Amino acid sequence: MLKVLVILGSVRCGRMSERVATFVMNRLAAAEGISAELVDLAVLDLPIMEERLGRIDPPPPGVADLGAKIEVADALVIVSPEYNHGYPGVLKNALDYFYAQYKRTPVALVTVSNGGHGGVNAWAQLVTVFVQLGAIVLPATIAVSNVEKTFSPEGEALDPAYVKRTDRMIDDLVWLATRLKD
Ligand SMILES: Cc1cc2nc3c(=O)[nH]c(=O)nc-3n(C[C@H](O)[C@H](O)[C@H](O)COP(=O)(O)O)c2cc1C
Repeated sequence: MLKVLVILGSVRCGRMSERVATFVMNRLAAAEGISAELVDLAVLDLPIMEERLGRIDPPPPGVADLGAKIEVADALVIVSPEYNHGYPGVLKNALDYFYAQYKRTPVALVTVSNGGHGGVNAWAQLVTVFVQLGAIVLPATIAVSNVEKTFSPEGEALDPAYVKRTDRMIDDLVWLATRLKD
């Protein structure tokens, strides 16, 4: 069983990225051999990062738990909106608590926009950051455009192309994570 951790990087009231995170969780549940867990940064509510886990004693609530989850995960999926041509500060804040925990972990990136460019600027920044963190960024990616129209509030893809693309991405993620595990 591959352990996949999905991190939702939007905490905004009325956030649309939650629709996409629900969709991704459902596609992971439909795939064989995966046990997926969602980390919602809105629920976790981590404080502003002052130091990495291991350098601050005691760590703020929730930090050690998230670090342990990243450490044991066979793969990560990041669902992130694009804010001002980047990804949200709340996601950077959460990612910066950890370093060694990401080593050689495959990471799939899913970016979300209510415009037509699918959050491609957030994607570019996330690639840079995860390379620095020692993770292995999956080439397959999902860029969600016009999220209000392409995903229902229940997290259904209203454009079937997203189902196909996401299943292909999950397939690649399983392939890579399985080989790295071996
Ligand atoms: C502060 C802020 C900045 C934003 N900047 C961008 C942007 O640069 N590019 C873009 O495509 N969408 C931008 N958006 C719109 C998001 O794409 C939109 O809110 C989308 O629904 C995904 O974010 P959400 O999960 O917060 O809803 C911005 C939204 C906010 C709140």
